[in-house]
Amino acid sequence: MILLTGSNGQVGFELASRLPALGSVVCAARSDADIALDLGDLGAIEKALDAQRPRIIVNAAAYTAVDAAEDNAELADRVNHRAVAVLGAWAARNNALVVHYSTDYVFAGNGEAPYCEDEPIAPQSVYGRSKADGETALRASGAAHLILRTAWVYAPRGKNFLLTMLRAAAERERLRVVDDQIGCPTTAATLAEITTHMLAAPGLRENSGTYHAVSTGSVSWCGFARAIIQGAHQRGLLARATPVDAIATGDYPAKARRPAYSVLSTEKLQRVFGIVPPSWQAGLDATLDRL
Ligand SMILES: NC(=O)c1ccc[n+]([C@@H]2O[C@H](COP(=O)([O-])OP(=O)(O)OC[C@H]3O[C@@H](n4cnc5c(N)ncnc54)[C@H](OP(=O)(O)O)[C@@H]3O)[C@@H](O)[C@H]2O)c1
Repeated sequence: MILLTGSNGQVGFELASRLPALGSVVCAARSDADIALDLGDLGAIEKALDAQRPRIIVNAAAYTAVDAAEDNAELADRVNHRAVAVLGAWAARNNALVVHYSTDYVFAGNGEAPYCEDEPIAPQSVYGRSKADGETALRASGAAHLILRTAWVYAPRGKNFLLTMLRAAAERERLRVVDDQIGCPTTAATLAEITTHMLAAPGLRENSGTYHAVSTGSVSWCGFARAIIQGAHQRGLLARATPVDAIATGDYPAKARRPAYSVLSTEKLQRVFGIVPPSWQAGLDATLDRL
């Protein structure tokens, strides 16, 4: 049995429709799921696992509010780090495998070439630190695991940059978007497909470890916004192609510090699992087609 946490989140929702191809799935979330589970309640996690006894745990739940985390460090740490330690410890004792998601925000972002998995991390925010600590705890647990670092996740539903841009473009004359942060926009569907392929691959446990799982190519938030608006206009989702002005990070103050360059190399994912993720433009087209 596969236990899926965070089944109402962007990634969890896409996983919930794909994982059943691999076996029976129990969805766990704070509400609207097969079982209720609050990852902030560390004692409840072990009880749920003892009751369900999964052979695979897919942890798509996380505290993902990057700016709010600066003021909620304890909760971010509990959900993104200590809860992951509990999942890992249970999995190690019970010979289960844990799939866990992490983030490009574990890196400092002052590089100029795509980050590989084994490069030193230096998170710049409370969220990034909590995710980095979650990775470390899972590795230390001794459980078989896949840590999939992803980035700039969006989907046709949920809280994300694409939906924010479409709303803003419909309401305003012009938009101003940061042009000096570069990353890899990745759809939740792409990540769910990569996950499902990895779980179906032979020799999964021998390939336990950390992988970068993002779309290929890279773009700034401003370039991404322009592509979203152009694609939406072409599909008749926006009446006009609202212009987007490029601004600097300093012109858009945010509580949390974000990496300037957090492009992730997917070379290891391709080499070990033979998975070539789609380009970010293909992911965007597929998402706009679903709207
Ligand atoms: N979004 C991004 O841009 C991004 C970038 C890099 C990495 N990631 C990582 O990718 C993974 C999936 O992210 P996502 O984009 O799917 O996030 P999301 O849409 O924000 O979903 C997160 C899910 O976690 C659940 N959750 C939060 N706190 C919880 C708690 N205390 N107990 C149980 N469930 C809780 C939320 O439940 P409710 O529905 O009840 O709120 C939500 O369903 C996460 O590990 C995230 O860190 C995301």
